[in-house]
Amino acid sequence: MHKICVIEGDGIGKEVVPATIQVLEATGLPFEFVYAEAGDEVYKRTGKALPEETIETALDCEAVLFGAAGETAADVIVKLRQILDTYANVRPVKAYKGVKCLRPDIDYVIVRENTEGLYKGIEAEIDEGVTIATRVITEKACERIFRFAFNLAEERKKMGKEGKVTCAHKANVLKLTDGLFKKIFYKVAEEYNDIKAEDYYIDAMNMYIITKPQVFDVVVTSNLFGDILSDGAAGTVGGLGLAPSANIGDEHGLFEPVHGSAPDIAGKKIANPTATILSAVLMLRYLGEYEAADKVENALEEVLSLGLTTPDLGGNLNTFEMAEEVAKRVRGEK
Ligand code: NAI
Ligand code: MG
Repeated sequence: MHKICVIEGDGIGKEVVPATIQVLEATGLPFEFVYAEAGDEVYKRTGKALPEETIETALDCEAVLFGAAGETAADVIVKLRQILDTYANVRPVKAYKGVKCLRPDIDYVIVRENTEGLYKGIEAEIDEGVTIATRVITEKACERIFRFAFNLAEERKKMGKEGKVTCAHKANVLKLTDGLFKKIFYKVAEEYNDIKAEDYYIDAMNMYIITKPQVFDVVVTSNLFGDILSDGAAGTVGGLGLAPSANIGDEHGLFEPVHGSAPDIAGKKIANPTATILSAVLMLRYLGEYEAADKVENALEEVLSLGLTTPDLGGNLNTFEMAEEVAKRVRGEK
């Protein structure tokens, strides 16, 4: 039995998450879904965006499936990532047939350090009109994120990928913090003889994900750089409606679409469930359910290539109809 903490959250989270549960149930795997609340709505009602019971449930379950929070996102998802110590934010960037992409052969993964950097949130007003933020880079966090990236490259190599890790940083300007980042990258690289290691400055990297995205395999970078780079990368393979993510630590895994609560389309049942379904695929792999993961991904790929989609991709299905097309194929009915 896989015990999964399900947090729908706000806005379209209440649509894309139930639609994804529809698909997960179609796998026939033994799931126990434990529902928990977080986000703007529960904040308005109780004064707490991330209630204690939700934290307990998240800690107690094998994995967390999260939708989106609204204005309270920083108090919910950033906190949850910290509490669960999910230090690796994994964002696959993959072109699917039937989706408008920059190139059809894009298939790489961005691994973003999830616990420090500028998002440590250490800010101060040191004088009137003068504010500062502290960027934290530690050897310990570098080592574990790079090891994670190289292990992922090894896994992908077994599946026919190149076996390469690209580190993006700005060590020429941020001499101490990114100097350390780069130094530890090459130190960890020495442990992996079979995996290539290379590095680029983050600004150039931002260009390369547009001009030569097909050459990347695993890209690893710090927190803020990864946040920006991965949204841009999502844009090269169809946009936010398709971008999944996994937050992985040594004890916990939290899976969520990259997008937010999308108040502009919430309640209309037109949100694309793809990003959340793909996040569930990452969750299935995390749970060791590789066969079911492939089944769901293949079913989704077929549905996308047939144009059986929500309006953002040019189709005329609603969120739940699109998910049902995937579920039918997972059940073998189509
Ligand atoms: P957003 O991702 O919610 O929406 C950006 C644009 O993409 C909107 O036009 C939206 O309609 C569209 N979009 C997003 N997901 C889509 C989907 N599945 N299907 C079709 N179209 C989709 O980002 P925005 O507008 O910057 O933020 C809205 C709220 O979400 C804010 O309150 C913000 O704080 C929160 N947020 C929460 C996140 C989280 O919980 N992880 C992440 C990002 C934003
Ligand atoms: Mg972001």
